[in-house]
Amino acid sequence: MTAKLLDGKAFAKGVSAEITKSVASLKQQGITPGLAVVLVGEDAASEVYVRNKGLQTKACGMNSFEHKLPAQTSEADLLALIGRLNADASVHGILVQLPLPSHLNADLVINTIDPAKDVDGFHISNVGLLGTGQRALVPCTPLGCLMLLRDHLGSLAGLNAVVVGRSNIVGKPLAQLLLNDSCTVTIAHSRTRDLPSICRGADILIAAVGRPELITADYIKPGATVIDVGINRVPAGDGKTRLVGDVDFASVSKVAGAITPVPGGVGPMTIACLLANTLTACCHAHNLSESALSSAS
Ligand code: GUN
Repeated sequence: MTAKLLDGKAFAKGVSAEITKSVASLKQQGITPGLAVVLVGEDAASEVYVRNKGLQTKACGMNSFEHKLPAQTSEADLLALIGRLNADASVHGILVQLPLPSHLNADLVINTIDPAKDVDGFHISNVGLLGTGQRALVPCTPLGCLMLLRDHLGSLAGLNAVVVGRSNIVGKPLAQLLLNDSCTVTIAHSRTRDLPSICRGADILIAAVGRPELITADYIKPGATVIDVGINRVPAGDGKTRLVGDVDFASVSKVAGAITPVPGGVGPMTIACLLANTLTACCHAHNLSESALSSAS
């Protein structure tokens, strides 16, 4: 392996430690940031994510409010819950875990969240603010990728970035963030022609397609920075399963300059950024400056 390992787990620990200090300082002023997470149904992967989010929210001193609703919950009941959370001053952030059961209109549900509490950055107002380069609550996984990239590369200006994947959760917002950092951005997807040659032009390659180990060494420009957003469970051959990304780590790490592992790369950054967004939303709700908070602590 020649590539530098971008250790998201260690980076996220540092971010969480800073957030913990800021939360302690807020608590001295009688304010406790609160995050409400709503899970509808019994999707196993979503249950794990929601449990982890709750544990880490509490670990940094924030309040965690978990709402687990049955799969057959009506849209009216879910919207009514969001209305109550919008009106609850102890709740600064609201996250509705996706995917939702198919009878629920996810766009309507997300757009019912108060944009000031939309710590996922999925509300159409936050999407529009990000798209026009204005201050917004930014989706957590893309924000985590950007933090890793800035930490490793410094300025991203002028670099060629290829984002493989066009989801609303990762691909599209990450492309906007990279554009706002003056990258030359290409979004590739399942219909892209000659994906390997497009990827070989990338100084920064982001894989966010959900296709296990799609990206192999022949997709990589030597020295490129590779961020793997994929989390795929594949058979391990012994009746068990193992976790792999969208990048074939073994071959790509021989060519890339830097690479995130799976697990331990982007995943931990997502939760750290969720906590950071909740802190931001709380500070805005109380008209406080976040920077004053961290310098005071
Ligand atoms: N499902 C997969 N990723 C996410 C995420 O970042 N936020 C929410 N709400 N649901 C998800």
